[in-house]
Amino acid sequence: MKYILGNWKANKNFTEMKQWIYTFQREYRANENVTLGVFPPLLFISYVQGKLKDCKNVFVGSQTISSFEKGSYTGDVTATTLEGVAHYSIIGHSERRKIFGETDEQLAEKVKQALAHGITPVYCVRDEKDPIPEGVKFVAYEPVAAIGTGQNEPPEQTVAMKKKMKLPNDVVFIYGGSVNEKNASDYFATGEIDGFLIGKACLDPEQFISIARAAQ
Ligand code: PGA
Repeated sequence: MKYILGNWKANKNFTEMKQWIYTFQREYRANENVTLGVFPPLLFISYVQGKLKDCKNVFVGSQTISSFEKGSYTGDVTATTLEGVAHYSIIGHSERRKIFGETDEQLAEKVKQALAHGITPVYCVRDEKDPIPEGVKFVAYEPVAAIGTGQNEPPEQTVAMKKKMKLPNDVVFIYGGSVNEKNASDYFATGEIDGFLIGKACLDPEQFISIARAAQ
């Protein structure tokens, strides 16, 4: 199975989100070997999930998750709230680490919360030095220099990093950083990369779908 995950980050208003769904529903054709994940802003998750629930092999996820179970944590969105709606949660994206100061300890708590509520953590690491919490089965390697810069990492380098990480065989390894419809197939050609975490290119549903086609 290949995984094509699209992180919208803090983009799109309600109207733009509805346009994205409309185009996606029109263009999407399911393929049994490819799973898609859509990560809209938290407010839209439930709406998007409702609209896409009949699209085969398409799941919705959150871009982050609380490290707490529930309670007096104003503004946080917990796994308790997301359970049954979000299938995945991105945890440890470098923007969360850098801009919001999230620590390895907090990220490990987030992983525990997600797992306890049936949400699959998509755990982001910047290189082989970022520790991966127990129970993680999905690792997104995202070199900081490649995120949002248009300078994707050459696939040979990504494969070399995967080797350095020495991940167990049952862990899904995906790459993120300036993936687009032109460079996607170069990664699959290595036979070592299970998919992508995509930022900018997934904001356009047609580009998102054409990257998914490269995975078939
Ligand atoms: P990008 O973002 O595709 O815009 O480089 C990737 C990410 O941050 O996950």
